[in-house]
Amino acid sequence: MKVLKTKAEMSAVAESWRIENLDVGLVPTMGFLHEGHLSLIRIARQHADKVVVSIFVNPTQFAPGEDFAAYPRDEARDLAMCEAEGADVVFLPSPEEMYAPDASVALTENRLAKTMCGLTRPTHFQGVLTVVNKLFNITRADSAVFGMKDAQQLAVIRRMVRDLDMPIAIVPGPIVREPDGLAMSSRNTYLSADERRHALCLRRSLDLAEAMWRRGDSAADAVLGAMREQIAPTPGAVIDYIVAVDADSLEPVETLRPNTLVALAVKIGRTRLIDNTILNKKTP
Ligand code: PAF
Repeated sequence: MKVLKTKAEMSAVAESWRIENLDVGLVPTMGFLHEGHLSLIRIARQHADKVVVSIFVNPTQFAPGEDFAAYPRDEARDLAMCEAEGADVVFLPSPEEMYAPDASVALTENRLAKTMCGLTRPTHFQGVLTVVNKLFNITRADSAVFGMKDAQQLAVIRRMVRDLDMPIAIVPGPIVREPDGLAMSSRNTYLSADERRHALCLRRSLDLAEAMWRRGDSAADAVLGAMREQIAPTPGAVIDYIVAVDADSLEPVETLRPNTLVALAVKIGRTRLIDNTILNKKTP
């Protein structure tokens, strides 16, 4: 496995693969890898001959006062995990390598990025789209895998690829959960033991939504209300949003139907967690 720190090295390797007619799969990450990321590497492998994992805590997607500085980092462990998973290259640039000091171009999505997380993080998706587009260009990727826990990110990236005719396939990776149901996230490391227990309220409220949907309760208001009521008594839990939206357009739905994304963001103490489910069939 090669570890490349400059854009020039990464592009040169990508170009050599292209000449050999090899497909490149990209797994963009911010490091502090967990089983969820590893599952994305395995999915990338199914779609590509060569797999690049990028590890870059992207400053432009954090607003002032967010957790950029505190975001967990463990380069040595991340590299060992990528190697064990059979990644071909880890692209590990510094912020100075990625962004010119006077960088003045950014990519904005004007609809999907304005809702849900975009309401409290209005600059977040501009940072995500800009860096993701740069990573696509630098790695010359044919496909890229994104986790479905970040359902809004996935929808916004798909919209970018569609609207800008980017020649890349976007592959979703299913949410990977801890045995007790908590969605894996690098930010789970912020949780104290008590908060870790309380964080289960996210998954439990999604279980409730799925159960209501299965027994035929399809009024979004009733389902979202029941989820709120269930989370309310959890100590330290503050709901940011709970929504039922179309998984592609992120437009709110009044009546739950297949492909409805039920998503929520909840602060547990100082840690903001997100989780979601996509309703598919009436019966599991
Ligand atoms: O999902 C993430 O970890 C990040 O938002 C991404 C896609 C790597 C862009 O920095």
